[in-house]
Amino acid sequence: MSRVLLLNFSPHGKAARGYQLAADVLQGLPGVSALVERQLGSEPLPLVSGAYATAVTTLDRQAAAVEVSEQQIVELENSDLLVLCTPLHNFTLPAALKLWVDHVVRIQRSFGGDGAGRKVGLLRDRPTFVLVSSGGFIQGEKANQPDFLTPCLTAQLDCVGIRQVRFIYLQGSVRGDEAVRLEMVEARRLFLEGVLAVVG
Ligand SMILES: Cc1cc2nc3c(=O)[nH]c(=O)nc-3n(C[C@H](O)[C@H](O)[C@H](O)COP(=O)(O)O)c2cc1C
Repeated sequence: MSRVLLLNFSPHGKAARGYQLAADVLQGLPGVSALVERQLGSEPLPLVSGAYATAVTTLDRQAAAVEVSEQQIVELENSDLLVLCTPLHNFTLPAALKLWVDHVVRIQRSFGGDGAGRKVGLLRDRPTFVLVSSGGFIQGEKANQPDFLTPCLTAQLDCVGIRQVRFIYLQGSVRGDEAVRLEMVEARRLFLEGVLAVVG
């Protein structure tokens, strides 16, 4: 049985297609024992403050300023399966997702060093799905713009030890209803297949 953490970074909240697809698939699965979801796009985490930046760089794990970071990391630690739903904003992560990353990727808490200057993840690896919604195309033959989200988020998750990451794309949301419907059908198939392989 899997405990699932579903984080949605769309400013549209529960109206976002990626979130609706993920929630719909996950809610019906017998292999899911608990589903915790957060709308971090419509209710974003606080900006990185001076107090947080100081606590991080001075390795102060007791500071009140790391409380939000600690909550996010513990919630992540308590999951067996991570699902991130995010739009593409200006070729990369939306600010709300970058904020989550800035609270979760914390030195000597979620990553350390190997003594040779390389970062080593301290969190347990777990299957992770990233549903990316975009107005245009960033993958496949129709790709017409750079995709900095995929390599950037891959490196950020890798930094804390999360390597089983699968990206699923919901592209071309500005191309009309039929194009969106077809993308949703294919994304749902890929997501369901991937999740079933993990939770049974
Ligand atoms: C601030 C902003 C920046 C965007 N930048 C891009 C972009 O660089 N490339 C793209 O294809 N779509 C871009 N879009 C469109 C969204 O990615 C698209 O509408 C997506 O389907 C929104 O998904 P959501 O409903 O899950 O938020 C942008 C939208 C916003 C609001």
